[in-house]
Amino acid sequence: MSTVAIDFAGVMKSHGGKIAVEGLSFTVAPGECFGLLGPNGAGKSTITRMVLGMAPFDAGTITVLGMPVPARARLARMRIGVVPQFDNFDVEFTVRENLFVFGRYFRMSKHEVEAAIPSLLEFARLENRADARVADLSGGMKRRLMLARALINDPQLLVLDEPTTGLDPRARHLIWERLRLLLARGKTIMLTTHFMEEAERLCDRLCVLEEGRSIAGGRPHALIDEQIGCHVIEIYGGNPHELRALIRPYAQRIEVSGETLFCYAPDPEQVRAQLRGRTGLRLLQRPPNLEDVFLRLTGREMKD
Ligand SMILES: Nc1ncnc2c1ncn2[C@@H]1O[C@H](COP(=O)(O)OP(=O)(O)O)[C@@H](O)[C@H]1O
Ligand SMILES: [Mg+2]
Repeated sequence: MSTVAIDFAGVMKSHGGKIAVEGLSFTVAPGECFGLLGPNGAGKSTITRMVLGMAPFDAGTITVLGMPVPARARLARMRIGVVPQFDNFDVEFTVRENLFVFGRYFRMSKHEVEAAIPSLLEFARLENRADARVADLSGGMKRRLMLARALINDPQLLVLDEPTTGLDPRARHLIWERLRLLLARGKTIMLTTHFMEEAERLCDRLCVLEEGRSIAGGRPHALIDEQIGCHVIEIYGGNPHELRALIRPYAQRIEVSGETLFCYAPDPEQVRAQLRGRTGLRLLQRPPNLEDVFLRLTGREMKD
């Protein structure tokens, strides 16, 4: 087995004159969960499609499971499971029929697919839905079915484009749990997300994207320590500019985003002391997270 699952080196791509991916490089090691984190339009789906050999690029090289892409992408894809950003089921077909048809694309025999389906349904917690039409499933069930479908060829690498976007928190946690199980089984995962929490919880390493460029990368906690490394107090309900002047001597850095003031302070008690007795203020003290990293690097929040 090759020592890297994905090697993406100096890749450039433009869409009709507009640069979508600008000299991007990253590697994904076997067995790790690698995340591409960025807001809408950052280039996540474009990168995913390039990894799969489904979108041409202008410069650079991409190697996936030891095979050059796009030259040998078809072969590489036999060993990859894909969850696209938007579900593409035959919604009039049942859950079982969708899995069956997909297995046949991988040239599995009728018998092989039939033998694989029960454990995939169990994995996706859809044992009782085998004969339901996909159109009748909830959003969370459809995403789990998409994941089960991606596993039909027992892939060694999973490429997941926003696997939990649009799901409620419970459905999202269930997907996370399933992904952890896959990692424990030794699968390699590349996923894209705009959820900081998802990236922080699941990913061993990240590449943070903005407008097709990598603006930071590494292990989530190392990234947070390196970029922030102190407590955060969010302050709501006051005049951000007036408050900023008041707490400036005690803050390492202050960001104003809309009506909220983000104060990065080595000793939060000193900041709180400055604000004590002021009415109408609400303070939220918390450990730093990836949202702070994004805010620091771009000067804005990652809201889509
Ligand atoms: N087929 C396309 N033709 C032209 N522009 C595109 C096409 N696909 C994506 N883009 C543009 O490329 C950029 C990256 O898009 P995309 O990869 O979909 O981002 P993300 O998945 O992070 O939301 C965006 O500016 C988008 O408008
Ligand atoms: Mg996308």
